[in-house]
Amino acid sequence: MENTKRTVTCGDLRKADDGKTVVLNGWIHRIREHGGISFINLRDRYGITQVVVDSDSPANLAELAKDLHMEYVVAIEGVVRARPDNMINPDMITGEIEVVAKDIKVLGKSETLPFMIDEVQKDGTPVIPNEDLRLKYRYLDLRREQMKNNIVLRSKVTFATREYLTSKGFLEIETPTFIKSTPEGARDYLVPSRVHPGKFYSLPQSPQLYKQLLMVSGFDKYFQIARCYRDEDARGDRQPEFTQIDMEMSFTNREEVLETTEGMMGYIFEKTLGKKLPAHFDRLAWDDAFDFYGSDKPDLRFDLKMQDADFMAGLSDFAAFKAGASNCGRNIPRHERTALKALVVKNVADQYSRKKIEELEGVAKKYKAKGLAWMKVNAEGNFEGGISKFYSGHEAEICSKLGASKNDLLLFVSDEDWQTACTALGAVRKQLGKDLNLYNPEDEFHFAWIIDFPYFAWNADENHWETEHHMFTLPQEKYWPTLESNPGEVKGDLYDLVLNGYELASGSMRIHDPELQQRIFKIVGYSQERAEKAFGFLVQAFKYGAPPHGGIAPGLDRLVMLMCHEESIHEVIAFPKNNLAASPMDECPSFVDEQMIKDLHIAITEREEE
Ligand code: AMO
Repeated sequence: MENTKRTVTCGDLRKADDGKTVVLNGWIHRIREHGGISFINLRDRYGITQVVVDSDSPANLAELAKDLHMEYVVAIEGVVRARPDNMINPDMITGEIEVVAKDIKVLGKSETLPFMIDEVQKDGTPVIPNEDLRLKYRYLDLRREQMKNNIVLRSKVTFATREYLTSKGFLEIETPTFIKSTPEGARDYLVPSRVHPGKFYSLPQSPQLYKQLLMVSGFDKYFQIARCYRDEDARGDRQPEFTQIDMEMSFTNREEVLETTEGMMGYIFEKTLGKKLPAHFDRLAWDDAFDFYGSDKPDLRFDLKMQDADFMAGLSDFAAFKAGASNCGRNIPRHERTALKALVVKNVADQYSRKKIEELEGVAKKYKAKGLAWMKVNAEGNFEGGISKFYSGHEAEICSKLGASKNDLLLFVSDEDWQTACTALGAVRKQLGKDLNLYNPEDEFHFAWIIDFPYFAWNADENHWETEHHMFTLPQEKYWPTLESNPGEVKGDLYDLVLNGYELASGSMRIHDPELQQRIFKIVGYSQERAEKAFGFLVQAFKYGAPPHGGIAPGLDRLVMLMCHEESIHEVIAFPKNNLAASPMDECPSFVDEQMIKDLHIAITEREEE
């Protein structure tokens, strides 16, 4: 073969190419021999093409074919042959043809792989190697079709993001990854300075402060596909390093930020998946999100709303309901509010054994509920099981108020703390959604905005207020007069975008008035000096003409994860860390030379065992 460079990819050829001479490059996906004929499935990023080494091909070719093994990289020259109609393989994009090999050259040999690429069981279910092995040999794992598709989609999503934002006048501006350590919620990753003994750079948890500074500079529409670093416990939707679509706008308001984000999501989904999203997403106040769904990131692909059942406490002397019902209602401050919440699960009472209900109780208890009370409506319309003995005789009132009927399962959580009751029963709701597959198949991607978040949260361990989002978030204007006197009730001008039960994005309008900023620092217990030390440069910048501004940051990894219907962001990151924030492939983090440590003027006091 004179020229081994491919003339077509393994996904290109169709019936119309019959008779053409082509060169293919790729990996040997499968190879089998049948009656003296070798069949090679050659794979590259674009697809798989079947190559045939006929029994009448030159002898050296048939010999060579015998020495080929899975995952060898080869160049194959051959002639395209249309398959007879009854031999067409509809599962392959190139299934109308095969290529009859004239020459084969091995470009790269392969040892036996630690796992087979795209192995399937006899019944067609894929064999997925275990996560450790996949991460150790990630470059091989990425050869699997599913991983390849995920990474390709990610690239398309990134490109569509750039296209959309650029078309709307946004500038892509990079901000530093070596920054001053500022308190931002999670722990910082630190990089010791060699030149400045004892000093550290910190890796940004997000470009938050820099994007605000860019607004002060006059770049009124900024975005960045930004790498962020947070030293927090890893889990399925969290990585120590992850990527945000970071955005900020000046002379803007909440409406414009939400609409821009909706437009961007609509563009991304249409362009990359061909799916049309609604022009605007539902909006849900934070209090409603908890009251109805028990979460600030509710999965709205199914309805199943929680209800208030405090009226039930007056109907019997069932003790567990008394505390929950004692101080209910929106007019009660959040931290003093109690709740007795109910879920009516339609027409499943006969499917729920005591054991299955106990499993649900386990979920509720995991979220700090003291228990999960239950009863069923039987075929006669009477209560049965669980706490039914306390409520027999009240069927009509309870069923009418809660909208329950025959064969419904009623579940309750009562707690002195409103948020605990909501969260625990919300977790049960989520579990029921999964167990009963309540998802609406028409509602594949359910976006919603959560708005009107509380601005401050009380840190009971440390006895002080802290901000729910970051400290540069604007409190809603109507609360400005009462910031200090009633912090618990202040709502922020901040918003989260949720998708299918995940927090996809967070953002807010920002404070640009140095005085208001000082008031916030004070309420969260930051002395002038401490604030100056941590954020002095931002406060200083705001003294030179700061425009009103606001922004948002959707997590790119979570977005692509959900678009791929994956359950972990590991599946959409080319080289992720495992749940111990390590990479089994390159063994990162690693010990380094003593001398390097010395050069950095630091000392190691404790070492992990080798
Ligand atoms: P926040 O901290 O809420 O806001 O982060 C925004 C979005 O980033 C994603 N995200 C993560 N993804 C993977 N792994 C992680 N460890 C991780 N942490 C966060 C989520 C989240 O919704 N500067 C603000 C944004 C702003 O106000 O403009 C910020 O970083 O999808």
